[in-house]
Amino acid sequence: MVEATETRMGPAKAVELGNAVAIASGKGGVGKTWLSITLCHALARTGRKALLFDGDLGLANVDIQLGLAPRRDLGGVLAGRIRLHEAVSAYREGGFDIVAGRSGTGSLANLPAERLAGLAAELAQLGPAYDHVILDLGAGVERTVRQLATRARTCLVMTTDEPTAMTDAYAFIKLMRLQKPEADLRVVVNLAASEHEGERTYATLRKACESFLGVVPPLAGIVRHDARVKDSIRHQAPLLVRHPNTEAAADIEALARRLLETP
Ligand SMILES: Nc1ncnc2c1ncn2[C@@H]1O[C@H](COP(=O)(O)OP(=O)(O)O)[C@@H](O)[C@H]1O
Ligand SMILES: [Mg+2]
Repeated sequence: MVEATETRMGPAKAVELGNAVAIASGKGGVGKTWLSITLCHALARTGRKALLFDGDLGLANVDIQLGLAPRRDLGGVLAGRIRLHEAVSAYREGGFDIVAGRSGTGSLANLPAERLAGLAAELAQLGPAYDHVILDLGAGVERTVRQLATRARTCLVMTTDEPTAMTDAYAFIKLMRLQKPEADLRVVVNLAASEHEGERTYATLRKACESFLGVVPPLAGIVRHDARVKDSIRHQAPLLVRHPNTEAAADIEALARRLLETP
């Protein structure tokens, strides 16, 4: 496993996660975990083989939203008890695979750099078995969180119309640009009151990025606020099964289509 180790030639090239889409935001509570699940599900429903990696270790995570009790999870991997591929469980109802996180294991942000590098290397080995790997990065703009994001082929930066969410999304974009200028960053506005409101939120963020960073991260999609999202989480059932004909479901399916059209 060659991984970001210093050599006489200088730092080794970090492993790339070529088919990974990282979901990031800075701020918590903007819907990263829910969107990661639902996007993975939407991709699986188009016949793609998809893996959801729950890196949102500290908080209410994927297994809780879906009501799963995986026998093995990332906690065991981080403790060195099992390998990453052994932590994969099949989520039959959704037709995709999951590496569950574990509440209380701390966050990716607190992982020592070499642990994270090892995890990324294992993920890079696991990734090619899938068409898509969705990485729920959890909240934060720390270097460790960005380390995984820079390896993904695309990073969806999520925001809502709240100024704190926009500020954190901006901060994440700024730091990512410094770390990897060529990073493919795209914006997702979640919890939008309407498509129009979502466009306004994007325009505000876009303007700040354009004025102060000289970049215009494209809009990947707008996902409208939908009361049935909460209902499906309460019932620990995926939205696309419980409420397939809703605005939020249509928005995620459109987001998935766009990701497939513009790899
Ligand atoms: N489009 C949406 N419409 C309605 N509620 C949403 C939507 N997206 C997320 N939520 C709600 O927001 C809450 C936080 O979502 P979560 O995915 O846990 O956020 P994060 O992972 O960013 O902390 C959840 O309770 C979820 O029900
Ligand atoms: Mg989360």
